[in-house]
Parts: sequence; structure tokens; C-alpha cells
Amino acid sequence: MSMFNEHMSKLLCRVLAKGEGCQVLDCGCGDGRVPHWLAERGFKVIAFDKVFHQRWGSVSVSGVHLLQADIHNLTMHKLFDVVALFGVLHYALDQEDLRGMLRWSRDWLKQDGLFVLNWITDEFPHLDPLVYLPSKDLVESELRALDLALTCSWTADVEHAHGGPCHRHRIAYAAWECRRASISATAS
Ligand SMILES: C[S@@+](CC[C@H](N)C(=O)[O-])C[C@H]1O[C@@H](n2cnc3c(N)ncnc32)[C@H](O)[C@@H]1O
Repeated sequence: MSMFNEHMSKLLCRVLAKGEGCQVLDCGCGDGRVPHWLAERGFKVIAFDKVFHQRWGSVSVSGVHLLQADIHNLTMHKLFDVVALFGVLHYALDQEDLRGMLRWSRDWLKQDGLFVLNWITDEFPHLDPLVYLPSKDLVESELRALDLALTCSWTADVEHAHGGPCHRHRIAYAAWECRRASISATAS
């Protein structure tokens, strides 16, 4: 799993444990590194991002379908064994937007499905003061309210520069289990 850090690898191990052939929805997939990696391991992946990425067209892996869509507007008449939301929550504008992102992505999960996510928490201020960072407590309470049960969670600090000033983030990683199927989506 050298393309992922040890924390992402731990979460992805949880996904692998769901078993080959499982259907995964990757919300905010970026350039597609996670969906391609999972599809290469026998998972059926639908992945979307609000921004089209050039790399989508340059990698050909069967079992992965990539589309451009916004999490708030995506229509998906299908439920998934795994829903992933990696590195997306700091794109929420405020708590209401965050709640929408979590509710929509949770809505596509089957009963007993796995919800995996990571996000930048509010422990360290973002370089851009306009970026909204949700706390670990807030995200956890929102997910509990959506009837998800916490399986594991931890945090890790990263320090990097991105070509600018050096700064730190605290990243939360978590896996949740779905206690009841969505009431608004239709299983296929
Ligand atoms: C930091 S990147 C993470 C990409 C990928 N999940 C990964 O771990 O490599 C966050 C991605 O979320 C996408 N994103 C943010 N808000 C979104 C939304 N409302 N709907 C869909 N994608 C969104 C961004 O366009 C960006 O590509």
C-alpha cells in the first residue's frame, strides 16, 4: 500500500475486509487513486468528484466508474457496501453544509455497510482562515445522529509546506458501521 500513508492503509484494510466484489462509492475521489486501487483488487467502484480530473481518462481499470458530480446534487438509485469520504469535509462551507455532505453520503450506504472517512479537524487553524474545519466531536455527533455506530477512530498530525509556509494539520480517521439502511435511497 505504498501509495497511501499508514493511516489511510489502515482504513483501506477495513474496506478490503468487506471482501472482493463489494460495491464501493467514493465521494470526492479527486484524481481517482483510491477507486483505481480498489478496483484493481476486485471491488466495484463508483467514484465522483465535483471537479473533472484529467487523470480519470488516462487510467483504464475495469470495475471503476468515475463521474463528475456534486455530493449535494448526485442522484444515485443504488446502495453500497462501503461509502468513502476521504479528505472532503474541509470543503464544507459551514456546519449546515457539513451536515448535508454527511447525510447524503450516508444515505447511499446499505444496512451493515461500512462508512470510512478522514478529515482535517479544527485542532490547528488552517492557513486560510476562511476554511471551515469541523471538530472531531461535531462530526462524530452528526454521524451518530445518522444512526451510524463508531467502529474505530484515531488522529494523526501531519506537518507540510505545499511550497508555502510550513503548517500542521490534525487528521481524524474513522470507520463507522451502518445500523439501518437509508430510507431515502432505493436498493438495486
Ligand atoms: C483533498 S481531495 C481528496 C481526494 C481523494 N478523496 C483522495 O483521498 O485522494 C478532496 C476532493 O473533494 C472534492 N469535493 C469537495 N467538495 C465536493 C462536493 N461537494 N462534491 C464532490 N466532490 C467534492 C474536491 O473537488 C477534491 O477533489
